[in-house]
Amino acid sequence: MTANKEKIIEVRGLKKTYGGEKKRGYKGLTPLLDVLKGIDIDIYRGDVVCLIGPSGCGKSTFLRCLNRLEKPTGGTIKFEGVEVDEAHIDKLRQKMGMVFQHFNLFNNLTVMENIMLAPVALGVKDMNKKRGELLKRKLRGEDVSEELAALPSRLEIEENAKTRAKRLLKRVGLEDKADVYPSTLSGGQKQRLCIARALLKNPRIMILDDSTSAVDTATDAAIRQGLKEEFKGITVIIIAQRISSVQDADRIIVMEDGKINAVGTHEELLANNQIYKDVFYSQQKGAEND
Ligand SMILES: Nc1ncnc2c1ncn2[C@@H]1O[C@H](COP(=O)(O)OP(=O)(O)OP(=O)(O)O)[C@@H](O)[C@H]1O
Ligand SMILES: [Mg+2]
Repeated sequence: MTANKEKIIEVRGLKKTYGGEKKRGYKGLTPLLDVLKGIDIDIYRGDVVCLIGPSGCGKSTFLRCLNRLEKPTGGTIKFEGVEVDEAHIDKLRQKMGMVFQHFNLFNNLTVMENIMLAPVALGVKDMNKKRGELLKRKLRGEDVSEELAALPSRLEIEENAKTRAKRLLKRVGLEDKADVYPSTLSGGQKQRLCIARALLKNPRIMILDDSTSAVDTATDAAIRQGLKEEFKGITVIIIAQRISSVQDADRIIVMEDGKINAVGTHEELLANNQIYKDVFYSQQKGAEND
């Protein structure tokens, strides 16, 4: 099935070891901890890929390596065929939306301001760059008046971002929260705000770490339904705690102790993978006891 799909990410031999650093309060170097022990995986464009595995097995570290918040100790990561290194970080991050366990919201800005900050800044930067290029051509005697007039104003960029922001806030059920400050939101609402904010960048890939774990199952389902439209065509890599939210993923990656234990669909893993079975049945029991 994956034969004719386009590879968007290729990971080979990815390793991450923490420690070995000088730190105050430590005699010598901090202890070494091998967290990722050689990960090989291909991610295909448009797929929804879920990552599950026991606490501490390296799921968050793996995702942080993907967008270079963490520098791998070994191995390679290719994004759209190009090896990701220091030189490509900004470009990479423009194409990747991320929602992490810690929310990084600005508490002195309203919900709407938080969500509009990056896209407006990027839009203005882009527009200034284009204007600079046009002015250079004008100096060389070219007639660029039409192109100059077609450039959006800052106000237009803001209005555009605002229209999309409003739609996204509605999708995540926060339409009535646009003008409040993030400190007044619940944990689940903060997460939803972060999802909307990440989507506003029109990313090619969305990386979500525990993104729906702070909301109850019903809200989780409603959000996922509401966001289906917005996620269309975007590759999604998501760390999920609940089996109920990974069941319809295109592929599920089971991680254990810094390695990939198995990759498959819900049905395949339920038939063949002990770790997956254990998590599934323990969660079913948990749900019955709720
Ligand atoms: N910055 C760091 N320095 C040292 N050790 C770290 C660091 N970040 C994570 N670790 C360790 O790496 C291991 C994997 O952590 P990671 O956050 O990737 O796990 P996880 O699979 O996401 O777990 P959880 O499901 O609990 O979120 C843990 O033992 C953790 O203590
Ligand atoms: Mg984690």
